[in-house]
Amino acid sequence: MKHGVLIVGMNGATANTTIVGALLGTQEELALGSITSGMQGLSRHLSRESSFVFGGWDVSSPSPLELANSYHILPTEVLSRSSPILESLRPMRAVISRHDTMEAKALAEGNAEHLCELERLKSEIAQFCQMNDLQTCTVVYLASPLALAEPAVLNATLTDLKLMLEKNDPRLPSAILYAYAAIESGAAFVDFTPNITLDVPGVQALAEQSGVPIAGRDGSTGQTLMKTVLAEMFQVRNLRLKGWYSANILGNNDGIVLSRPEHRELKMHDKLAVLEQILGYDGFAHAVDITYYPPRGDSKEAWDSVDFTGWFSQPMAMKIDWQGRDSILAAPLVLDLCKHMQFAQSKGSIGIQEHLAIYFKQPIRTGALAFSAAARRLREYYQ
Ligand SMILES: NC(=O)c1ccc[n+]([C@@H]2O[C@H](COP(=O)([O-])OP(=O)(O)OC[C@H]3O[C@@H](n4cnc5c(N)ncnc54)[C@H](O)[C@@H]3O)[C@@H](O)[C@H]2O)c1
Repeated sequence: MKHGVLIVGMNGATANTTIVGALLGTQEELALGSITSGMQGLSRHLSRESSFVFGGWDVSSPSPLELANSYHILPTEVLSRSSPILESLRPMRAVISRHDTMEAKALAEGNAEHLCELERLKSEIAQFCQMNDLQTCTVVYLASPLALAEPAVLNATLTDLKLMLEKNDPRLPSAILYAYAAIESGAAFVDFTPNITLDVPGVQALAEQSGVPIAGRDGSTGQTLMKTVLAEMFQVRNLRLKGWYSANILGNNDGIVLSRPEHRELKMHDKLAVLEQILGYDGFAHAVDITYYPPRGDSKEAWDSVDFTGWFSQPMAMKIDWQGRDSILAAPLVLDLCKHMQFAQSKGSIGIQEHLAIYFKQPIRTGALAFSAAARRLREYYQ
């Protein structure tokens, strides 16, 4: 049985690492960093990377292998292996809206009206499924974070969305067109970015109506993942948080995009909301900085300086230095999510997949959960 994975932003660092890694990696190499491999008993329910067929959309056209060699994220000995499938992969034409990055808008080949773009995406999904004889298909959104959509979009019902599509309303972000096309085609949809797409009531209603699973938002891969662990410790140990300062430096393309205020707004919200949601109180200082620092490339560094009080209100502090690798942390989670969505489709599971909260900074509906609670939810779902 084969399962389709179509990635929006398939030539980006995370998507490229996911695709190339999945096609060239051994089972042993692919297991590290994957929750489904680490959590006992989970993988027996799930498909393997070898059953995945990849495709996707992007504004840039180089082949994934060419890109992987320039990204320098995966080891060269892995990239020297061959895969005829990989050599033939090319992205399909992207859909662009005014919310996209200036680079995407500059490279775009020109959009048709919303309804034409929607029909094009749907026929591309159908053709991909038919040509590859796929049992299921998941569309994963891994393109650059968009500028914030207008409130009319955030609150749109399904009827509002249909009207916006018909009227070719420029307020409709490209991400919603991808989600709409995926869901109407019967494909599961995952949003790994901070975009508001799956928060929109009309998109959730469409998923329910079309009988497809959806999951998001914003992959939890580094600093925020660590916050979900430590916040739980502060809460259980009844240590009172006074302040948390988080600084990030990263030198990849996502770092360039996130250095722009209009594209970082949602990411900052997602990073900042986590602590209050887990601790259950506010009234502490919480600051997050993201700085684009080219020398680091995809190897990002996050510093945390945490102030808290204990018995007799005595002040204490903690300093953390996380030296991570953005795409190496994210790719196994993307593959995990594809496996979960394939399983959900096979079981007829519809709408927001709350048991996948562990994968996201701001899981839709549940909000951020303490790490152990999120892990328990996932484990219980498969019992
Ligand atoms: N890697 C992580 O740890 C991590 C964690 C959480 C969230 N994310 C999010 O995942 C996304 C991908 O991250 P990345 O580091 O791969 O970024 P990237 O900048 O390397 O890749 C983004 C890709 O999207 C493409 N793109 C832009 N607009 C598009 C459109 N309208 N349609 C199709 N393609 C489009 C770009 O050309 C580029 O190839 C970002 O939104 C990032 O914030 C990443």
